[in-house]
Amino acid sequence: MADMDGFKEAVNFGVGQTASDTGFHVKGASCMSWGMKDRLSRIFNPKTGRTVMLAFDHGFIMGPTSGLERIDLNIVPLVQYADCLMCTRGILRTSIPANVNKPVCLRSDAGSTILTELNRNVLIDVEDAIRCNASAMAVMFSAGDGEQEAITAANLVRAVDLGNRYGIPVMGVTAVGKQMARDARYFALASRVCAENGASIVKTYYCDGFEKIAASCPVPVVIAGGKKLPELEALELCYKAINDGAAGVDMGRNVFQSESPAAMIQAVHAVVHDGLTPEQAFQLFEELANK
Ligand code: R5P
Repeated sequence: MADMDGFKEAVNFGVGQTASDTGFHVKGASCMSWGMKDRLSRIFNPKTGRTVMLAFDHGFIMGPTSGLERIDLNIVPLVQYADCLMCTRGILRTSIPANVNKPVCLRSDAGSTILTELNRNVLIDVEDAIRCNASAMAVMFSAGDGEQEAITAANLVRAVDLGNRYGIPVMGVTAVGKQMARDARYFALASRVCAENGASIVKTYYCDGFEKIAASCPVPVVIAGGKKLPELEALELCYKAINDGAAGVDMGRNVFQSESPAAMIQAVHAVVHDGLTPEQAFQLFEELANK
């Protein structure tokens, strides 16, 4: 009977189905191992199937990014409102208390800084990700970016192989696409390639036609926030992404560079998990910010 149920889940799974159709709340994960499912369930809330990841890994490329100069003051107070933390192992070990009890999507590749062309990224040792108790490993994929495409594809594939060995999902991080238009065609290609190579989550960007990106990707897609926007616009971005099929956000600057970061992450949470409209969420933001 158990086998038949598993078979039914496998047959039922398909692009465009909701997570609940597959018997597991994370898209594309119904046939995964227990450990993978457990880790994905720590990231994606089983009640809503969605996540609010707080991204603060920017320093590995940009150094002390505005709003991230003091992780203890800027980020630690926000951790309680996030479903998942996305950061490097250096910041995790030095600046995040180990008793916050939040899943970590560990930035698991490294490369050049903003001072040099992004190239020749390398993967960290998966055993170190295990020591950090990572719930997922985040690895960049640079589609259409010359030699960097092959290097990042190799990192992604290697991370998936090692992640499968130890039950750790990989989040494919689609690069911005330097030479290409930042459009749905590009991000749909990059997202699908990440999933085809075994990523269990894809991080990409919102753009016109986003519903096609989400529908043609067989795993959950979360959106980065990108450059700082006025709060209402950032909340509109979240709302449109969720409406168009995103399973959540992996947001950084629009939270930690907000005039009130704690209010902003709570407003984003309300859009993602509670279905607030941008206007309702902005009102919540203002109320919390003025407290
Ligand atoms: C960039 O270095 C990282 O991948 C960020 O985690 C990602 O871009 C999300 O941050 P933001 O919302 O600031 O774009």
